[in-house]
Amino acid sequence: MKFFIDSADLAEIRDLAATGLVDGVTTNPTLVAKSNRRFFDVIKDICKAVAGPVSAEVTATDHATMLAECRKLAKIAPNVTVKVPLTPDGLKTCKVLSSEGTMVNVTLCFASGQAILAAKAGASFISPFVGRLDDIATDGMSLIRDIVGIYRQYPAFKTEVLVASIRHPMHVVEAAKMGAHVATMPPNVLRQMFGHPLTDKGLAAFLADWQKTGQSILDA
Ligand code: G3P
Repeated sequence: MKFFIDSADLAEIRDLAATGLVDGVTTNPTLVAKSNRRFFDVIKDICKAVAGPVSAEVTATDHATMLAECRKLAKIAPNVTVKVPLTPDGLKTCKVLSSEGTMVNVTLCFASGQAILAAKAGASFISPFVGRLDDIATDGMSLIRDIVGIYRQYPAFKTEVLVASIRHPMHVVEAAKMGAHVATMPPNVLRQMFGHPLTDKGLAAFLADWQKTGQSILDA
């Protein structure tokens, strides 16, 4: 399973990339606005910090302008994945770009039928938003189960399921159990995944006992 960071905060991305566990980054206009930086500068810097795909989202809603925005974004760096909304114009744009070999992430997916359309349009990634479905009392993870199951029936579909709008580590664990290809998570969720109180307690006990021996591994 690939781990992407859902953020436009360069310091956070660099910090987590240093773990060697980050396979890519996703951004959206809200995250870019939060960074208080120029869009192209942020994407350029993130693309240098992470070798894998970095999603940069269009803001146009009509096909012609979206296509022009995508072509401009794709020039920023070879690892840019252009991100388009799941609308008729977005999928039309996806079809054109995927036929040319550009990686496209189709975002704002809330239904299995939408995910089938994105796969037919040649999307590299489909981004179903689990947290936002949970927020309206609908089981977000069951959408992931459905999409993964549907895509498995059609080996010709090359679209990867990129679980988005993740709120906590259990979303990641459930997505992994279902066989989703990618989880994109806010920095705090990846950090939470490292933690367990028994790990902390066990380590403290090991270190206390080791100290009693008066030994040092490096001095041995
Ligand atoms: O980047 C898309 C998605 O992950 C947004 O998540 O938390 O705004 O629902 P959220």
